[in-house]
Amino acid sequence: MTSTTDWYAKQYVLFENERTRPVKDLLAAVPATDVRVAVDIGCGPGNSTEALAARLPGAAVSGLDSSADMVAAARKRLPQFQFDMVDISTWDAPGPYDLILANAVLQWVPDHERLFPSLVTKLAAGGSLAVQMPDNLDEPAHRLLREIAVDGPWAPKLAGVERTMRHGAAWYYSLLKPLCARVDVWRTVYHHPLTGGADAVVEWFKGSALRPFLAQLDDAEEPAFLQRYRDEIARAYPALEDGTVLLPFPRLFVVATR
Ligand SMILES: C[S@@+](CC[C@H](N)C(=O)[O-])C[C@H]1O[C@@H](n2cnc3c(N)ncnc32)[C@H](O)[C@@H]1O
Repeated sequence: MTSTTDWYAKQYVLFENERTRPVKDLLAAVPATDVRVAVDIGCGPGNSTEALAARLPGAAVSGLDSSADMVAAARKRLPQFQFDMVDISTWDAPGPYDLILANAVLQWVPDHERLFPSLVTKLAAGGSLAVQMPDNLDEPAHRLLREIAVDGPWAPKLAGVERTMRHGAAWYYSLLKPLCARVDVWRTVYHHPLTGGADAVVEWFKGSALRPFLAQLDDAEEPAFLQRYRDEIARAYPALEDGTVLLPFPRLFVVATR
């Protein structure tokens, strides 16, 4: 059984440069207004908070995350900022915030039809909600996970393990436009060069998509599940001549300004 020990924070930062690039692209698209109060929700180990603070010198920056490991890692990394252990689904701070950053987190949080408007109500006039979510459920890495999950002795345990995000650009635009002065939505496909072939791809997803699946398996089942996934990944993502795998990674971006 995969525990919630600090392996998660350690696993996540293995590919930190690749995972931090989208937050920089996201922040670059936030309107250059006078941002005094900013919060990073689902701050992880503080990498997105660090990018946020670098973009907004002088702003009051804080972060929150539902994982104790992540909050501890963020506090260690950025001791000058306030980090709290909070679940976004029940986050009741009223704001107002000039900027709410949610980078690579809301795909884990259900009920976007309610959640996104409730985040907008926490914004000051002219404030922005800046969101980036992986949009990769149709990529081989996710499709294979779903296929393997229903085709093995683990199938009963893994029934129903699924991530939330299933909406496209038009859905978010239509939801937010009536509430905001400006809604900017775009999609980017990154191609991350991973040295180490299929093993590196598996390591990447151990820090994200594999987590809810592995969390359901016991110590005997996990290696068999991972081996099967690795073999399929090797077929779906053949290495280049130098052993590098170029991992295509589509991401959806939303900047909604009140
Ligand atoms: C993929 S990491 C993103 C970390 C960081 N924002 C970044 O840009 O790299 C997702 C983070 O969201 C956190 N998370 C997941 N569900 C959450 C929830 N309901 N409330 C708060 N944090 C949550 C996880 O603990 C994890 O730290």
